[in-house]
Amino acid sequence: MSEQLMKVTIDNITVEVPAGTTILQAARKIGGDVAPPAMCYYSKLQGSGGKCRTCLVEVSKGSEKDPRPMPKLVASCRTTIMDGMEVKNITSDRVLDARKGVVEFLLINHPLDCPVCDQAGECHLQDLSYEHGAAGTRYEFQRRTFKKHDLGDYIQLHMTRCILCYRCVFTADQLTKTREHGVLDRGDHAEIATFIEKNLQNDFIGNVIDVCPVGALTDKTFRFKNRVWFTKPVDAHRDCDTCCGEVQLWMRGDEVFRVTARKDEWGEVKESTKGGTGWICNTCRFEKKQVSDWVIEGPTKVNRHSVISQGHYVGLTKPEETMPKVMDGRSPKLLMDIHTVSEVNKPSIELSKLDRPAHSTDFNQ
Ligand code: SF4
Ligand code: FES
Repeated sequence: MSEQLMKVTIDNITVEVPAGTTILQAARKIGGDVAPPAMCYYSKLQGSGGKCRTCLVEVSKGSEKDPRPMPKLVASCRTTIMDGMEVKNITSDRVLDARKGVVEFLLINHPLDCPVCDQAGECHLQDLSYEHGAAGTRYEFQRRTFKKHDLGDYIQLHMTRCILCYRCVFTADQLTKTREHGVLDRGDHAEIATFIEKNLQNDFIGNVIDVCPVGALTDKTFRFKNRVWFTKPVDAHRDCDTCCGEVQLWMRGDEVFRVTARKDEWGEVKESTKGGTGWICNTCRFEKKQVSDWVIEGPTKVNRHSVISQGHYVGLTKPEETMPKVMDGRSPKLLMDIHTVSEVNKPSIELSKLDRPAHSTDFNQ
């Protein structure tokens, strides 16, 4: 039997999707800015979504049969589409205003320690607050503090940064044999903690780092070693008995600083080329930090609109050069070409044209 398709119009763009699709998934099919931000929904984790409210949208027409608008904004990750539904995301002032409020709430207790946070540059809350946040806060009380929990040798927990999205809890539940952490207490006291200080040692537990949208769970083996935008992401693989072995290496020169799963444009772990989701095991993530451990496939194309894409060097689109046009073809003598003047790299090397990570041999010593 052929699949029943339904029409949904989001920000004036119509798509046809199977019945049961959520508004968020339909919007992702259109892509770009039409897709609402999602801090807690993660398509590869069952039951995720409905916690953070960043994905709120306005339903201006319920369906073809019942065209009444929905009175309140709805969470697009939890609302399934109806045939003929019309949705407003970035075309709705109500949505943009509400999103601003959600960001303000998320930042009530979140420290603004981006300059020392390892997640900076790939933090969804950082991106969200740049796009929807306000410069100031109206919050006058002390921010929450927590008793420190040691999560073992590999994973660092900064509870003050947690937005209680539950993604790491679902990851531990669905990927590992035993879950040893969860959200303890409720309301203002809710926190991610281990049960009786158990270390998280399960084979696949490192994936909680990849799903955490903020810097609450970071990689202890990478901590404070580098800023993510100074490293070059490279696709690589190895034969692994435990996982698919397909990873992204974050390199500087010939040094592997960090190993993560490969992410798609929504910041979610990609499908593996061998089938299934490309979750990676702890051995690949934390123990294989030599280039010789890996077969390098080539530079990663970064799709996300984030500062990490600044460091990529394939598929680069540069703005049109206007200077010669406005100067009747003459070259601007007073403007310096930073490559020539800085003498950082060897004169024969044009860094932006390398189709590989830059090595120390490319630079003047
Ligand atoms: S630690 Fe990260 S993934 Fe876990 S609930 Fe907090 S924000 Fe979400
Ligand atoms: S992504 Fe929908 S509520 Fe969090």
